[in-house]
Amino acid sequence: MTENKTSRRGFLGVFLGGGALATLGSILYPVARYITPPALSEAKLSQLKLDFARADIEGEPVKAKYFKYGRELGIIFITDAGEMKALTAICTHLDCTVQHRPDLGIIWCSCHNGRYDYNGQNISGPPPRPLTQFVINEIDGTIFISREDA
Ligand code: FES
Repeated sequence: MTENKTSRRGFLGVFLGGGALATLGSILYPVARYITPPALSEAKLSQLKLDFARADIEGEPVKAKYFKYGRELGIIFITDAGEMKALTAICTHLDCTVQHRPDLGIIWCSCHNGRYDYNGQNISGPPPRPLTQFVINEIDGTIFISREDA
């Protein structure tokens, strides 16, 4: 009788312990998955077709548009000379988004007054590196963006 009680107690202990472990696991596993980011693999983008045309960035007051190239943000604009240029739109200093300043003839970062020329070269302020240029192909009014290294 005592042996039977002990084995029943043992069974209950194992059963409750297993349940507690399963509950703890069901709580900790999603937390661990949330904390540990999955390894993201991104398909290499060879070319991006923009959903707007040159006319959409030529007119006043819009002189630039932003686009997503994979996970990168880019900016496309028309220079004072009428040339279309596309650069990465993230400042190389502290990752603020740059903007086209046609009044100054530069690409400008408002965070710390970083300045780039129209080729993306950092010309004044704290940005340590130039912005990367995209290659633009305009075919029948459709704009295609690509990377030189792609
Ligand atoms: S983040 Fe652009 S100048 Fe500092």
